[in-house]
Amino acid sequence: MPALTAKAPAKLILLGEHAVVYGYPALAVPVASRWLRATMQARIKPANSGLTVSAPQLDIECPFEALPELHPIKAAVIVTLRHLGIQRLPSANLNIQANFPFSSGLGSSASLAVAVIRVFSAFLGHSITNPELNTLAYQVETSAHGTPSGVDNSVVSYNQPIWFIKGAQPTPLQPGANFHFLIADSGIKKSTAASVGELARRHDEDSTFIDECFKKIAGLTRLGRQAFQSGEIQRFGELMNENQEQLAKLGLSCPELDRLNAAALKSGAFGAKLTGGGLGGFMVALSPTAETVPFKKALIEAGAQQVIDVPVLKNPEGDSHE
Ligand code: MEV
Repeated sequence: MPALTAKAPAKLILLGEHAVVYGYPALAVPVASRWLRATMQARIKPANSGLTVSAPQLDIECPFEALPELHPIKAAVIVTLRHLGIQRLPSANLNIQANFPFSSGLGSSASLAVAVIRVFSAFLGHSITNPELNTLAYQVETSAHGTPSGVDNSVVSYNQPIWFIKGAQPTPLQPGANFHFLIADSGIKKSTAASVGELARRHDEDSTFIDECFKKIAGLTRLGRQAFQSGEIQRFGELMNENQEQLAKLGLSCPELDRLNAAALKSGAFGAKLTGGGLGGFMVALSPTAETVPFKKALIEAGAQQVIDVPVLKNPEGDSHE
């Protein structure tokens, strides 16, 4: 039997992270050039030898049963089997490869969940719809992280720009112009669950200041949706900057991210902000045009470990001329 493969993109939150956990909106896009691939290869012999898992980037090479209880790979397999009403694990190897770093704000856990659910259900002979996939991936995210909003699994499941509010179906968005984003890795690994948990603890202690910031972020995100859809690139960049100010007030930035944001803005970016959980991971900048080389240079000089172009095009199938 030939191997079966499923790919899931990385994700990029443009506006609204953290506030989205508390019911406010967020705007997110997939990162087409960065993906996680899950491959299932059947094993004929020995018969009933069970499922083995290999994920070199995560230092995993073991029988399925040896994975820690809350591991997202284990959770993804279990929710898929339950959804399909199948009890027995197949005799196969599940291999995971990604071309982007884990724990960097690019949604690796959501990509992992989506790719594993997709390949596993296909391997067992069932096709799965995007809403089903999204529901299952959210269950995996919840078991691994506690209180995710669901924005990561939604943008990864639907693989298109979305407007997201917790508990509602995501709304697909169409950009009104070609947006040329760049993302730069601060090199600092940070768990999103940790930054979300820390903010929740502070919110429990005193919610007034944090709620005020979230309301401002929600207003900016709503304006951002209009700017995105009507193709007002510069306006969108300004809103990213205002969003960054609020995230910094919430204590979610760090000197390394601040340095990258400043370098991007100094080189003429329309906007720059952290993306995802913050306190490390990636930042995102918005270039005025498709010419992004000067920004890459400036970001690398400011300490970025890598810089990736993320074009979000009005007509992705066509050409990308301005
Ligand atoms: C993480 O990619 C985005 C956060 O808003 C958390 C979440 O929405 O679950 C920080």
